[in-house]
Amino acid sequence: MTTVLGIETSCDETGIALYRTGDGLLAHTLYSQIELHKIYGGVVPEIASRDHLKRIIPLIMECLNSANISINDIDAIAYTAGPGLMGTLLVGAGVANGIAYSLNKPVIPIHHLEGHLLSPLLNSESPQFPFIALLVSGGHSQIIAVEKIGTYVLLGDSLDDAAGEAFDKTAKMLGLPYPGGTHIAKLATNGNDIYKLPRPMLHSPGLDMSFSGLKTAVLTLLKQLNLHNNSFIPEKIKCDIAKSIEEAITDVLAYKAQLALAQSKVTNLVVCGGVSANTTLRHKLNLLKQTHGIKIYYPPLKFCTDNGAMIAVAGHARYKMAQFNYNFKVNPRWTLNELDPIHD
Ligand code: KG4
Ligand code: ZN
Repeated sequence: MTTVLGIETSCDETGIALYRTGDGLLAHTLYSQIELHKIYGGVVPEIASRDHLKRIIPLIMECLNSANISINDIDAIAYTAGPGLMGTLLVGAGVANGIAYSLNKPVIPIHHLEGHLLSPLLNSESPQFPFIALLVSGGHSQIIAVEKIGTYVLLGDSLDDAAGEAFDKTAKMLGLPYPGGTHIAKLATNGNDIYKLPRPMLHSPGLDMSFSGLKTAVLTLLKQLNLHNNSFIPEKIKCDIAKSIEEAITDVLAYKAQLALAQSKVTNLVVCGGVSANTTLRHKLNLLKQTHGIKIYYPPLKFCTDNGAMIAVAGHARYKMAQFNYNFKVNPRWTLNELDPIHD
């Protein structure tokens, strides 16, 4: 029985969790800095690092208390080593290594995207291998073939903005707060897709995507409607634009996911990352269950966006190959194909 402490600090969420063999997730605590960065319209790295520093130890204590275990009961400490913001990663790496050193326990650097990919393991039904993953977050829109834990082949990527980034940037143009995905989704429930925004690269043969053109399309639309330059946008129009943005992005994601499944003849799909919380995307993908006979696995809704539980579960999976003692590593630009495979 192994108990892993997971620490996530790659961006603007301090996430802590405890995961144990057999019992699964024992406890998790999360502090989101959204309010702190709202006035800047995006994450300010230096402010983010300082806030992680302030929150991390109290959150670890709270997590241990809530699981009713002592720090000595931990067998290994997993932390996000990249990709992410250098300063915020250093906070998690420093604390993880400090605890590990003092307890003489192994420390496991985790790739943030592997955390997202394995987040459906937090559900009672684990994904079947092999699977295709649609990993859609604020920083990435990737389609990945996953043969087993640790073996990841990138099949498609966004050539420019990530899907979450497209939600966030177009939301900003509508005067919505950061991060915009949830705000667009909320408005979209009262809107109609009347503006028919472009679906870039929808019918290109490969699995790559492109979302940066949506910003230009929304700006052009606002100009046509004479609503640019911070003008007041009437609620009905705002809802219709939000729905049009959501439809354009989710059409591309659902189509490319379906294409990846068809090309690889794999029947299991994992959808993860912050954008996987989007109800319209889930609805479009769920239609594939009936038409293509596939199985779809999502993380629990609260673990779609960044959290410590996905790092703890990934750390638990990597425990066997962990190196004991000091392993201080951060890599803000770490890619998935640089990851060490897990040997059987
Ligand atoms: O995975 P995540 O927490 O952070 C990264 O690793 O980037 O994803 C955050 C992204 C943001 O861009 C946010 O706008 C988007 O996920 N997001 C959503 C929804 N909830 C979060 N996008 C669309 N619909 C949602 N319901
Ligand atoms: Zn993330």
